[in-house]
Amino acid sequence: MSEARIPLAGVIGSPIAHSRSPKIHNHWLRKHGIAGHYIPMDVAADDLEAVLRMLPKAGFVGVNITIPHKEKVLEIADLVTDRATLIGAANTLIFRKDGKIHADNTDGYGFIKNLQSAGVEWDAARGPAAVLGAGGASRAVIAALIDAGVPEILLSNRTRVRADALAQEFGKRVVVFDWVQAGNMMDHAATVVNTTSLGMIGHPPLRVPLDGLQKGAVVTDIVYAPLRTKLLETAEEMGCHVVDGLGMLLHQAVPGFERWFGTRPEVDSATRAAALR
Ligand code: ATR
Repeated sequence: MSEARIPLAGVIGSPIAHSRSPKIHNHWLRKHGIAGHYIPMDVAADDLEAVLRMLPKAGFVGVNITIPHKEKVLEIADLVTDRATLIGAANTLIFRKDGKIHADNTDGYGFIKNLQSAGVEWDAARGPAAVLGAGGASRAVIAALIDAGVPEILLSNRTRVRADALAQEFGKRVVVFDWVQAGNMMDHAATVVNTTSLGMIGHPPLRVPLDGLQKGAVVTDIVYAPLRTKLLETAEEMGCHVVDGLGMLLHQAVPGFERWFGTRPEVDSATRAAALR
């Protein structure tokens, strides 16, 4: 008789050494007393499909996918959820017992859950959301905001054509502003989101005039290193509510962990501490 296998999961990207996902998932595994492991794997694009087909045979129940494979993995998966198709990228794979690879995207869920559980009484219906950036992260954020019930998206990106393309995709609810006029979005915004890499360690800060913002506006950043970006610092000084990006990373990890290991983990201060260790 064969022994029950220890379930394995992990994260595939390249590079992967700095991923915080192993810290988060291994913290939850220990906390819940689950005999499992979560492993970072550096895989080149050319090897991605072969590795994904082999992992279930080695005891893997699923993996997270990160940069640069989030788009490519959709071509490999056997089943793709509607939201992953809409976003054009997946971050969570489930290896089903029948051998099929199921791809989902939990970034939007993580983004909204972070706003909802940060203690700032965020309400989607309160007004338009100003989104800075028009890359892959922006697409997930816009889809999630629309799904959550935000009435209008005000969008600005350094390269205007990328913002125009996103606006066309999402329809009339997205209004594009020139990058040099991004400050004009603030007069109307109840929520402000930075989805660019500006503000991240090693990158210049995001400098956008926030003067027009109302006091109760919620400003959030998907950047989480550093936790307090220049954008959040400025917004806080102006009396806005600020929500850092670490919570999005923690919350997007929840659905995968639950599917793979059968327990829904909590995002609490111990989870934050584990991710930052
Ligand atoms: P991701 O999938 O993480 O969103 P991406 O597709 O490379 O990554 O998008 C990065 C975003 O950051 C884009 O909106 C990019 O603007 P461009 O479309 O003009 O490239 C934005 N970004 C990166 N560096 C920037 C900079 N120095 N100034 C303004 N925007 C910048």
